[in-house]
Amino acid sequence: MCTDASALVEAIRSLAVRGAPLLGIAGAYGVALAAARGFEVSEAARALEGARPTAVNLSVGVRRAEAAHQAELVRTGDPAAAAVAALAAARALHREDAEASTRMAAHGLALLDELLPGGGHRILTHCNSGSLVSGGEGTAFAVALAAHRVGRLRRLWVDETRPLLQGARLTAYEAARTGMAYTLLTDNAAGSLFAAGEVDAVLVGADRIAADGSVANKVGSYPLAVLARYHHVPFIVVAPVTTVDPDTPDGASIEVEQRPGYEVTELMAVQGPVAGAGGGMPVAPLGTQAYNPAFDVTPPELVTAIVTEEGVVSPVTAEALAQLCARTGQV
Ligand code: MRU
Repeated sequence: MCTDASALVEAIRSLAVRGAPLLGIAGAYGVALAAARGFEVSEAARALEGARPTAVNLSVGVRRAEAAHQAELVRTGDPAAAAVAALAAARALHREDAEASTRMAAHGLALLDELLPGGGHRILTHCNSGSLVSGGEGTAFAVALAAHRVGRLRRLWVDETRPLLQGARLTAYEAARTGMAYTLLTDNAAGSLFAAGEVDAVLVGADRIAADGSVANKVGSYPLAVLARYHHVPFIVVAPVTTVDPDTPDGASIEVEQRPGYEVTELMAVQGPVAGAGGGMPVAPLGTQAYNPAFDVTPPELVTAIVTEEGVVSPVTAEALAQLCARTGQV
């Protein structure tokens, strides 16, 4: 339980709270919590925003609650009223995210049916993008779930998602409890699955979408996009409009979070640093250096479509995204 914003910052850093839409919601509630407890709100807001750099939703959520707090403070001069306003903003974001999930699922299902008219979709997903990261049923996972509910999901292929196993620990759990047919695979088994003709579409979420349509998502998404292109399989990104960041011009400008090496050199290094290690089971010689980016960036030309709550962007171009942002006030 987080009883102040600094505990929430730690929960975000250690991935107890994670996934782009949920980071936005949590960040907004964190600002409301700081305000209610009488802490310096802008200081808490900067700490929350800085907890993880890649998912733009985090700063969108933080700034929305902070702006509501500030506006009410200026209007009334009453810190208690301003704290209530911050909480109302967080609750509104939470509710809107749930609604966005429902709409993304509907648009995504329609797109799948259009791209794969035969039905019986076999979908590959990476990382975790269901109700554990959302006010509703999520992003990419919500589309697979919608297909399952109408009997058109033949199988969800779930990448385990090394090194922190969001696929194995979280997506497999979410799939199991819906009763859908799903199979877990190691990330490096995906290539042979495509080669065997077993994947009809790839569905992933996003942590930040640059103005040119480059998509940052969990590391391992880009290789799937390359595989999908080679095998003529659609690579579909599902994300709320708040994940599109018009201020980040292109993929090279996206800051990709680098995480500690012990997450790679140990299995289940989830307890945080213990004397320079993560408290997990070592799988490499002591002192081994590890490359551990949390995300990678897929260029727009490999993305078949971006599904948002406001509709589908395809082909993915800077112009189409600018129009979407202008239409939805995401500027
Ligand atoms: O490092 P994580 O677990 O926060 O990464 C999450 C992802 O990469 C998700 O795919 C992403 O946030 C989009 S879907 C909610």
